[in-house]
Amino acid sequence: MNNKKNSPPIKKKRIMESYDSSSHIYDKRYKKIQYEKFALILKDLILANKIILDAGCGTGLFFEYVLKNKKETISYSFFSFVGIDISLKMIEKFKEKLLNQNSKIFQNIHLIMADLENLPFRSNIFNIAISVTSYQNLPDLTKGLNETIRVARNHASFIISILKKKLDKINFLKNMKKYFQGVELIEDKEKTLEDLIIKAHLIK
Ligand SMILES: C[S@@+](CC[C@H](N)C(=O)[O-])C[C@H]1O[C@@H](n2cnc3c(N)ncnc32)[C@H](O)[C@@H]1O
Repeated sequence: MNNKKNSPPIKKKRIMESYDSSSHIYDKRYKKIQYEKFALILKDLILANKIILDAGCGTGLFFEYVLKNKKETISYSFFSFVGIDISLKMIEKFKEKLLNQNSKIFQNIHLIMADLENLPFRSNIFNIAISVTSYQNLPDLTKGLNETIRVARNHASFIISILKKKLDKINFLKNMKKYFQGVELIEDKEKTLEDLIIKAHLIK
């Protein structure tokens, strides 16, 4: 058996199982730290009239944060939010939260169990692609990034947040600059965040 050939699917299966089994405690453990990242990400981001991809949406903490802090930007305008995740249990937690929201917003949210490296979308759809603390789970970061680039429109806003400890920062930034304009590092004041957050505009 060729172990190398098999390793990505096995790694993904383990990741899926690990998030499935921790989905019930995820928010309790990570809400506070994820909210700090969302505050930085959302500072100058306009969500109204946009089709948004949340790549690795998990339990929907990002959307929950938007509802709590930027509701006015989504309630009265065209807005479509697509969350994808490889863990069904994480998505189910997200769905539970939506069931408590009013139906108008509910209609604009779409949750799909899918793999970041093989997205089930046509090319050139999304105006904004957000991914918070998810890409570092991928066996092939470049493949995941290319897939997100494929489904995003020209001039889409990209916001990618990745665990620093799992990242080859120099190479990643070099790669980003090949496809993006205005690549900007978002830092917290104390520089204590565990993620590297990058904002950029896609140029196709
Ligand atoms: C640390 S959590 C972050 C969740 C969410 N973005 C947040 O900020 O709370 C990482 C998420 O990435 C998802 N994930 C890992 N590998 C994935 C893959 N190949 N495709 C899609 N989602 C994946 C996990 O299931 C998990 O929900």
